Parts: sequence; structure tokens; C-alpha cells
Amino acid sequence: MIDIENNKYFHLHNENISYLFYVMENKELGSLYFGKALGDLSIDDLTYISTYHNPSAGVVNFSPNIPNFTLADRRQEYPTYGTSDFREGAINLSRDDEYLYTDFVYESFEVKKGIARNLSFPSAYGDDGEELIIKLVDKGHELELYLSYFIFPQVSAIVRQVQIKNVGKYALTVENLQSSVLSLPNSNYDFLQLSGAWTKERHIKKRPLVQGITKVESLRGASSHQENPFIALVDKNVTNSTGEIYASNLIYSGNFVSQVQVDEWNTTRLMTGINPQQFCWKFEKDESFTSPQAVLFYTSNGYNGLMRQTHSFVKNHIVDLKWKKRKRPIVLNNWEATYFDFNEDKLLNLAKQAKALGIECFVLDDGWFGKRDNDRTSLGNWTVNMRKFPQGLGHFSDQLHALGLQFGLWFEPEMVSPDTEIFKKHPDWIVHHPYERYSVGRGQYVLDFANPEVVDNIYQQMAHILSNIKIDYIKWDMNRNITEAYSPYLKKQRLPQGEFFHRYIQGVYHLYEKLLRHFPDLLIEGCASGGGRFDLGILFYSPQIWPSDDSDALERLDIMQGTLLAYPLSTFSNHVSAVPNDQVKRMTSLSFRQNVACFGPLGYELDLNKLSEKEKEEIKQEIRWYKENRNLLVNGKFDELLSLNNNNTYAWSVSSKRKQIIGFYRKLARPNEELDQYLIPSNIDLNAQYQINDHTLVSGNVLHNFGLREPYQFNAANENTAELFGDFQSYLYQLVHK
Ligand code: DGJ
Repeated sequence: MIDIENNKYFHLHNENISYLFYVMENKELGSLYFGKALGDLSIDDLTYISTYHNPSAGVVNFSPNIPNFTLADRRQEYPTYGTSDFREGAINLSRDDEYLYTDFVYESFEVKKGIARNLSFPSAYGDDGEELIIKLVDKGHELELYLSYFIFPQVSAIVRQVQIKNVGKYALTVENLQSSVLSLPNSNYDFLQLSGAWTKERHIKKRPLVQGITKVESLRGASSHQENPFIALVDKNVTNSTGEIYASNLIYSGNFVSQVQVDEWNTTRLMTGINPQQFCWKFEKDESFTSPQAVLFYTSNGYNGLMRQTHSFVKNHIVDLKWKKRKRPIVLNNWEATYFDFNEDKLLNLAKQAKALGIECFVLDDGWFGKRDNDRTSLGNWTVNMRKFPQGLGHFSDQLHALGLQFGLWFEPEMVSPDTEIFKKHPDWIVHHPYERYSVGRGQYVLDFANPEVVDNIYQQMAHILSNIKIDYIKWDMNRNITEAYSPYLKKQRLPQGEFFHRYIQGVYHLYEKLLRHFPDLLIEGCASGGGRFDLGILFYSPQIWPSDDSDALERLDIMQGTLLAYPLSTFSNHVSAVPNDQVKRMTSLSFRQNVACFGPLGYELDLNKLSEKEKEEIKQEIRWYKENRNLLVNGKFDELLSLNNNNTYAWSVSSKRKQIIGFYRKLARPNEELDQYLIPSNIDLNAQYQINDHTLVSGNVLHNFGLREPYQFNAANENTAELFGDFQSYLYQLVHK
């Protein structure tokens, strides 16, 4: 999978992709290709591919020693600004107040096989993976730069990471160290991003690439509701199954930037990494700094082709593999059922009803600790509220387990309320500037997770509960972004404040690591006011994330569609909530809500006392059916069946060899709808027979060519023939391979 020719050409490849780079005339690394697999390449092929016709005129040359050589128009593996290349570079270093114009030249390489899962920092892993490490040196500045490339046999992706090492005598500062760079020969793509806001996260947004910089970023201390680190460059005529897509994601949860620069020759440079704004890292002799990893994907098979790769990568190389085999429990979460207004009796009553419906885990959300009856108090005081649980939380947990339910518990580990003892005792444990004014969000402060003592205090409090009470599941929430970023701890340590954001997120990962080392069977669900930190860093520890505080099924259609481009169904849970819905006050049928929520890990989040007997029966049946199909719905192959440009009707499928479940959703009914809506199922075996919803038997060949037609008509105008009337409709098909 890694071929090296003449100590000059490096070819990483598997059955589907090739990634190629080489040592250029000036001994720096040049990028040659990323795309469909090229197979074995001879030295003649490689020489041909690397023959370069310089389009640039009148530009600055790199060095008088290499005549007519410029970096201005070169596609580079790891470019530096200011060395005849005026585009943004991937690395910026300084010493005292001086910028360094570095020149990293190739020295050697190393290949390693098998990449272990290491909980100390999120990164891709896999026994079948290979790593190529290229050592570059800048002798003048006494620096070593290590570029790592990882490849796995089954996924069309290259993971990249960078390490800079100081081997000189002076202290240096990293101002910027991007995780990956992808250089493409043209710019005929649309830039696709997953953006939105609280309660409308990760909607698909597209804009054409033009000369200049197009970017998404976060400076909030978390990957954010607003912009996700995932971006894609998509063919302008992309469909669900055709068209090239290059995509990139960062395995990181803090401030990031994902950007594309198109130059005057229309070549494209995509970079992603820690956001250089508000960042620096000081490193002395023999110290190094390592970037988070970034992953680059390629497909020529449109959106479904892309999802095949992103989903497989996340399931097999990011999320802990054990969660592929373990069942995700169907939960009842009490948040929208009770908010803060509960006690043990009220919750037990809900739990008993949940059990009778077939639910498997009771998640006790916010409000169980300190004197928390609203969101202005008690965070950081992780002791049980004895008024709500007079016999303690252990008693409640025992009751749940006696009923045969698992127990999940909510924490917001990174926050503290102003009235909490640890804040009063340690006012310098929060993130705050020495100025008088600083901001509060949701009435709470952010703990200084750059300070290991703070992380340890929270760990001890959580570990005490987890060691004494049987807890199967944690919901780890995070409800405000960081303002006036300043760490009193770093000040004391005489470390630059520019290190704060990265050290904060290292603290978050460290807490995850400690919890999972001591309580390895915990299912930790990530959450940040819904989907404010939905990224590959969190998914490395949390197999699933609460994707949005908007639990309205209709709103979820767009959130799910966007999220699914980058993250598989197994990574987010969907809850059936009450109507009118709490966020948008919309009325939708129970069947619509269940048909949306059943794709992925399923939950319920409503007051079961308010359900009619008929509704309870409907839920029971749904849960029975979900359990039979859970593996398919959580881990099956996912495909979009309708165009992503259509925002009124949605259809998606999960399939295995044996079975396929298709969900069709329509937001608004329209009269006299065109009849081009027959759904073509995915992954059909042309030679097989399929049974559709327990009756019609049809050949794979016919199904593939004619799609799903009779007897289901979705046309809303004709009362005599329409199956689905009115707005907010859905229908589930099940196809069984006979
Ligand atoms: C925000 C979360 O997204 C909600 O699900 C809920 O847990 C609340 N926080 C509790 O404060």
C-alpha cells in the first residue's frame, strides 16, 4: 500500500485510491495526485506525471541556485508563506518578534504498520493501517518537521498529521501548524459546508469556488453549532451516485479553520487545522508540537459514494469498535418530559411506563444535583439533591435496574455556577480575564480545563458517583462557548495565553480518557446544547452525540441529511418528542415522528402520562419492530434516494444483503405533484426477488428499473387515490431479499 521509488516518489494506495507526492527540485515536497487508484507506477510513469510546465510569468524565483524555479504556482505538500509563494502557508513560526521563513527539505522516511487506539488524544486507528512518516529538516533554523500519512485498505481516505520539533538552542513559537494540505490542479468545484445555528445545526450549504479564500471556522472554543470542520469540494453536476467529491474533516473539537484558496492559475489549496487566530505554542530545545489529525476523502460516486467512505471511516477507525457490536439502548430521556420539575417518584412512574413500552434505558437529565431547580445554579457541585432523591441516587439506580432498565446520568463537567462551593473556594479556576467585566452564558462560567488540577477535581467528583452507583450511560453536556479566553493557570505557569484554547480541549480529552480507562463500559453520549460540538474528536470517545436541541421531526430531516454527509447514522440519537413540539410548536403525527427517529439510535423524550392507550400501543409496536431491525437501522448501509437539492421530499434507505428499509418523507402536500417521484431503492440484486412490505413480490431487475410504484400514491390532490394526505407525511417500505 505504500510504494517508494528512488527515495523520491511516494505512492500511498489501496484498491480505490492513490495519493502521490515527490521530492521537488528544491528538495521540498510537491504534491502530484489524489484520486482514483492508479495501480503500479513505473519510474517512467512517475517522471511523466511530475514533469511540470510552469504557467507563471514574472514571479519571484525561489533561489538563485535553482534557475527558473518558483514555488508561486507549485502544488506543495506542506507550503510555507513568503518563499516565492504568496498564498497562505500551512506553517508559521517565530522567534522573539521575528518570523522565520523556513525551508523544509526532504531527509528520510519511515513506514509503520498497525495503528493502535490511544485514548490520550483522538486519532484514527486500525490494525490494518499503515503510516508513512516523512522527515524534513530546516538546518538553518535547527528544526525537524515530520509529515505523517495514514492509509487503511478499506476506505478511500488519507489521514494526515504534522509534528514540528525544535532541535536548536532557542525557544520558538508555533503561530500556525495546519494538519493537512490538499493541492488540486483546478477549481471546478462547489464548496460544501455544514452550517447553521443552535437548533438548526449542520444544514447543507453550497457556494461556487472562486479566486481567493473560502473558509469556515470556529473561534468559540468548540467546533460549534455554526460551522462544522467537515467541508467538501463537489463536482458542479454531482448527483447521489455520480460526480467527484474531495472532502476533508478534522479530528478535533476546538477552534478550527477549514479553508480553500484558489490562486490566479485556478489551482486549489485546501487546508484544515487548528485556527491560527488566538493560537500559539511555545517550544524550547528538544520539545515538539503535534497537530491534530485531519482526514481527506475522495470519491467519484457522488454523495452516496462519499457517505460510503465517511461512514466507514468513522465506524471503523474513529469510534471505539466495540460499539459496532453492542446494542445502542432505546432510551427515555426525562428532559422534555419534566425539565427541572421532578422527584424520584415522578421519575419512577415514568420509568415503569417506559419499561412496559419496551424502552431499555432511563436517562436522568439536568437537575438531579445540588439545588438545581433552574439553570442558574449548582453546576460543579456533583452531589445528589436529597430533596428530589430522599434515599439517594443509588436507590433510584437500583430501582431502575430492578425494573430491568439501564441508568443514564447527565453531567456538564466543564462548567460551574457562581453559587457553587468550588468556585467560591477557587475563583481562579474559571476562564476569565483579569479585567473587571467578563461574560456569563446561561448564568454559568467555564472551568479552566487548561489547569490539570481542575480536571482532576471534576474527575474525582464524577468517579465518586460512578464508583458508588451503577451507571451505564453518561450524557456529557456543554452549554456555553468561551468568551474572554484567559487562563489564570497559564499566567501562573508563565505560559502564553495563546496556548489556552488547545490546552482546554486537551483537558476535555484528558477527562474522557480518565473516565474511559476506569469505567470502560460506559456509553458516553456527547452533547453541547445539542450539536454544538459534533466532530470526530468527540466521536473518538463518545459513540453517539445528541445532534440538536430541536426535537421536531420535520426540522430533523435537514439536520439529519446534512449530518449524514460526514457522520454515520450510528453517531447520533433521535428522540420522539411531544406535540405540539417544544421548540417550534408544530403538530406532527406519532407515526411521522417515529419514522424519522427510527433511523439511528432511538429514544423517546416526552411525558408518557400524557399518551393515550392507542398511542402507547403504537409505540410498543414501533419498539418491537425497531428491536428486530435495530442493527440495520443503526449500522446498515445508508443511501439518499432523492436529490439533496429537493427540500420538500426526502427518501433514505438502510440496507444489508437481506433487507432494505426505506423512509419517505414529505414536508408539504402539493396538488397535482409531478409523477417523477418513484423511488429507486439502492443496492438491489438484479437477479433476486424482493418482497415489498409483506405482500407484492417483484424481481430485482424490475425494482431497479421501475422503482417503488403501486400501490402507494403520495399525490395529495385526489382523495380517492392518495395514500398520504396533508403536510408532514411519511411512509416506510421494507424490502426483503427472497
Ligand atoms: C442542553 C441539552 O442539549 C438538552 O438536551 C438538555 O440536556 C439541557 N441542556 C439540560 O440543561
